[in-house]
Amino acid sequence: MAATSRSFARALRCLNTPSKSIAPSAPSSRSLFSPRPRLPNLAQSRAFSITPLRLHGHITPPKPGEELHVTFIDKENHEHTIAVSAGDNLLDVAQANDLEMEGACGGSCACSTCHVIVTDEAMYDRMPEPEDDENDMLDLAFGLTETSRLGCQVAMTKELDGLRVKLPSMTRNLQASDFGSK
Ligand code: FES
Repeated sequence: MAATSRSFARALRCLNTPSKSIAPSAPSSRSLFSPRPRLPNLAQSRAFSITPLRLHGHITPPKPGEELHVTFIDKENHEHTIAVSAGDNLLDVAQANDLEMEGACGGSCACSTCHVIVTDEAMYDRMPEPEDDENDMLDLAFGLTETSRLGCQVAMTKELDGLRVKLPSMTRNLQASDFGSK
């Protein structure tokens, strides 16, 4: 009988003693209910800035006496002769002068919307050969010709002074839902 009451008393103690596994533990550094760590506020640490639109065609104004000339013939057959510096590419020159050249990929040779047609074969031959990437994109260009180039890949040099390029009647932008007739 004494043994029974001892085991009964032990059982009662067990029931009244909170188990270690369910006892509330000391709060951890990151419990389930603690707020999420805050991300640094970049707007406070770094000012947001934009560049003026006029700087989007990254051309360098030519120094007096060092001007090279390139003529763009637009879709309406109007000629635009522009003085440029060596090193400027045709996409930047066209965009800086508000000519219709889309340049959808920003000059990274991943579209064909900067397609130009060099009007003079001899001048075309003075250009460095197009790289494979350029040839791949040219294959997608609307109205491809023997003297087609991508404007963003043609940098002006002294040898190209007097270059004349025609803008095609249409460009093919595979990223757009339709092909713009520009
Ligand atoms: S701008 Fe896309 S290839 Fe020239």
